[in-house]
Amino acid sequence: MRFGVLTGGGDCPGLNPAIRAVVRRAAAAGHPTLGFLDGWKGLRDDRARPLGLEEVLGLERRGGTVLGTSRTNPFKSPEETAKVLATLERQRVDVLVAIGGDDTLGAARELHRLGKAVVGVPKTMDNDVEGTDWTFGFHSAVAVAVDALERLRDTAASHHRAIVLEVMGRDAGWVALATGLAGGADATLLPEERYDEAALLARVRRALAARGDALVVTSEGVDLGLAAGAAGGKDDFGHELLAERGVGAELARRISAATGAESRSAQIGHIQRGGAPELFDRLLATRLGAAAVDLALSGRSGQVAVLRGREIVGIPFDEALRDHRKVSADWLDLLHTFDA
Ligand code: F6P
Repeated sequence: MRFGVLTGGGDCPGLNPAIRAVVRRAAAAGHPTLGFLDGWKGLRDDRARPLGLEEVLGLERRGGTVLGTSRTNPFKSPEETAKVLATLERQRVDVLVAIGGDDTLGAARELHRLGKAVVGVPKTMDNDVEGTDWTFGFHSAVAVAVDALERLRDTAASHHRAIVLEVMGRDAGWVALATGLAGGADATLLPEERYDEAALLARVRRALAARGDALVVTSEGVDLGLAAGAAGGKDDFGHELLAERGVGAELARRISAATGAESRSAQIGHIQRGGAPELFDRLLATRLGAAAVDLALSGRSGQVAVLRGREIVGIPFDEALRDHRKVSADWLDLLHTFDA
C-alpha cells in the first residue's frame, strides 16, 4: 500500500512527530510514504517527496512541519478538485493521511466522499476539534503563553502597571483559559462569554489595590464590538485574521482610561506556534500518527484517529467535525473560582 501524507492549516508543535509516526508505522508494515508539500496545495499541484526513515530522523523533537503547510482549500472549485484526484492517480497513492484541524479534516472528508481512501489526524493549538479530548499543539502553545505571562508579571510588578496578554484561539478560548488558570491571571476573557467591562474593571481595580499591578489574559476572539479586520484579512476558508483586530491593545486602552493605571499589552501571536513540541504533544502526535496508519491498514478509510480518555480510537469524519469544541461550563466554573 502506498501512503500519502500532508499537513494543512496553521502549523503547531507536534506535526513533525506525527509525520515521523506515519512514516515509521507504515514502513514497519512494509509500506512506502510520499509526503505532499504545503498541505492541499502540494496535492493539487503535484509537489511531493518520498519520506523514508532517513527523512524523518529526529522529527520527534522538531517544531513546525518539514512538509510545509498552507490554508489552501482544494475543493472550492471543480478544477482544483480534479487536479487533486489526478495527482493521487499519477502518484499511485492508495491512502492519504491528512493531518490538520477542522478545515483540513473537512477537506479530507470531501475527498473521502469522492471515493478516495483517506484517514485523518487532528491537530491545532486551538484545541477545538470536537471529536478528540485534546489536540496536539495545544499544550506546547500554552506553555509558551504561560511563560510570557510570567515574564509580564515581573515587569507589571516593577512598573505598577496593568498588562494585557493577548493569545490566539480563533473562536474557542482554550488557550486563554489554560494560560489564565495556569499563570494566575487576575482576569481571563474568552470568546465563549459575553464581554463584561464592569466585571473586568472590578477585577483589575481589586488587583491594583492589592498588589499595585494587574494581569489580564484575553483570547484574540473576544468580541469587544470592534470593526472587522483590515480588508483582505481572510484566509482561503473564509476565516478573519483576528490578530489584526488588536483586542489586547484595545483592552489596555480601556483599562487605562477607566482606572488611570498605566497599561500595556502584548500580543504573542505566532510565537505560540513555534518551538519544539512539549512531551505531551510529542506522545499524542506519535500515537495518533501511528493509529491513522493502523486505521488505513485495517480498511477503515473515512476515519479520524482521536484521543478518548486514555485510548486512541477511530471515529468517522462527521463525528470528529460535528462542531467547534468550545470551552465547557465546568471549565468556566473553575476559571471563575480564581478570578472572582
Ligand atoms: O487556527 C490556529 C490559529 O493559530 C488561530 O488561533 C489563529 O487565529 C490563526 O491560526 C492565525 O492564522 P495565520 O497563521 O494564518 O495568521
